[in-house]
Amino acid sequence: MTVTTLSALLDKMWKDYTAMNPQAQKIHDLFLEKGETIQNDHIALRTFNHPKVNVNVLAQPFLKSDYVVKGEYEFPEKKLLARHYEHMDTTLPKIFISELKLEEFDQELQDTIHQLIDQMPNDLPQRFDFCSLGRPWEVSFLVYENLRKKSEYASWVAAHGYRPNHFTVLVNGLKNFDTLRQVNEFIKINGFAMNDSGGEIKGSKDVFLEQSSTKADVVKVPFTDGTYEIPACYYEFALRYPLPNGELYQGFVAKSADKIFESTDKG
Ligand code: NI
Repeated sequence: MTVTTLSALLDKMWKDYTAMNPQAQKIHDLFLEKGETIQNDHIALRTFNHPKVNVNVLAQPFLKSDYVVKGEYEFPEKKLLARHYEHMDTTLPKIFISELKLEEFDQELQDTIHQLIDQMPNDLPQRFDFCSLGRPWEVSFLVYENLRKKSEYASWVAAHGYRPNHFTVLVNGLKNFDTLRQVNEFIKINGFAMNDSGGEIKGSKDVFLEQSSTKADVVKVPFTDGTYEIPACYYEFALRYPLPNGELYQGFVAKSADKIFESTDKG
């Protein structure tokens, strides 16, 4: 079935994400069993700053669906730029799209990524559901491992392609949890591991946003030289605090997200 509407796209992204990462559906269901209704704070997508697939290209289906750019973030250490998009309908998730700045890496990494991108038909990224199509190129585990030494982020996109990196539970929308710590304890009691890079909770009330995330599910991924188990996607939790004007902060905190990116690192 051709995906042409925002709701169909968001639905497809969730189905693909939970099919690949069973922990997300399990955690989602645990919240439902407690009588919660889950509001998705944001969906995160990853790409490269190549003109064929950069943030602007990935943002197209959302811009066509009345999303607008609301923030831009720099991650100098990870060599990333990100933008976040919001819809007037605040029940719809924010979309957070980051891109790796290829020119800040050595020629070998740039050549490798160009070889992947060149395998795609030019018009493929124009598809409305491009951001849910998965990996549009062939890649070997050897290439994946070489990329990983220079950038975990580059290796993740090379291996998994275009699909949500994570969905995010808005903790403010939960009835039975007042703090992010309570959510983390609930997740751990149920047998899931949290990403503790930089501490389990990233951010604070002072920056109006606290975030935590699970460690990514490890999944079997087919490469040209065999099938290997590698980290896939994680589930994130966000608690937002009101700004002095009383409205909940809707942006992101670069310093926190920097550590959240490490949820897909090979431990
Ligand atoms: Ni996030």
